[in-house]
Amino acid sequence: MIEETYWHPVALRGDVESQPLAVTLLGHPLVLWRDASHVVHAWADQCPHRGARLSLGQVRDGKLVCAYHGWQFAGSGQCTLVPALPDFKPPAAHCAKTFQAREAYGLVWVRMATQPSLAEANLASPIGPAFAALPDFSAEESSELRKVNCGPYDVATSAPRIVENFLDMAHFGFVHDGWLGTRSATAIGDYQVEASPTGLTATECKAWQPQSNLLSRAPALVEYTYEVTAPYAAVLTKLPDPASMGSVAQTALTGQANRYHESIALFICPLEPDLSRVWFRLAVADLTSTDSQLRDFQHTIFMQDKPILESQIPKLLPLNSGAELHTPADRASSAYRRHLKKLGITFGVIQ
Ligand code: FES
Ligand code: CO
Repeated sequence: MIEETYWHPVALRGDVESQPLAVTLLGHPLVLWRDASHVVHAWADQCPHRGARLSLGQVRDGKLVCAYHGWQFAGSGQCTLVPALPDFKPPAAHCAKTFQAREAYGLVWVRMATQPSLAEANLASPIGPAFAALPDFSAEESSELRKVNCGPYDVATSAPRIVENFLDMAHFGFVHDGWLGTRSATAIGDYQVEASPTGLTATECKAWQPQSNLLSRAPALVEYTYEVTAPYAAVLTKLPDPASMGSVAQTALTGQANRYHESIALFICPLEPDLSRVWFRLAVADLTSTDSQLRDFQHTIFMQDKPILESQIPKLLPLNSGAELHTPADRASSAYRRHLKKLGITFGVIQ
């Protein structure tokens, strides 16, 4: 599956501590754990001896110890001790199934494709080598912006339905009435959508927002840019009209109001085709609110989206353009569907 050649988020970094953690990615049970050097590992959650879940085991002296017969595994996956035969030197084939793991954006990321052929096929794709990289989040590099993670949220729908909702402005006045939109201004102006190596970029997206963020003190015409950065990841960047901003925000920025912007990354772990785990990574200029206030705002907004997302039928995103109805206001979502189809994505979609 092409999906396996991408990096996917699986857990908050801080949730992988001294003991193994069971997670799921693309329908596969995985175990995450840290060795003595604090390096994170992601393996199939299945002991190669008799198939017990490694996540039931323990980390001792930098090794993962299976709960069933106590086999010990080093960070490389190699079995180093079989307690029933203390003098036996396990051969190289006595090895756990390992995947690539790394940490970024406050999360642990895993890439399951270990066969070089699949990875090479991906690199050789006409859409370019961006697949091999983590989803881009350029706001991460900005020292002026504060970073906060929200989630996880488990949502009973496919990852592509959640990305599509994130790109959708026409629901603001209904689902987020009084917050990100209002029923008195529901028209969507023209916006531009361009294909990008990782998906698409939508620009000149404008929304009249009563409460675009925690510090908003007056409604504002907010301009959005959306980027699809991976099949199951997207970023929005908002540039509110500075004149509409409240004094708190002005003060927080000490005269840099015209540079006030925020980016929100949507990172989704596709657990099952119709079940997803969602995190948001906020990069905001708000230096006054607490982390929990920032999370509460995002929580309020996403709890408005969640029942709608879980109500959508079918849960898998239909890529056949005849399956649902489209208008020019939906051009970002239509472009996203075309992109997934072109990539050959199969997990969470109906081809
Ligand atoms: Fe893991 Fe036997 S099943 S040690
Ligand atoms: Co919404």
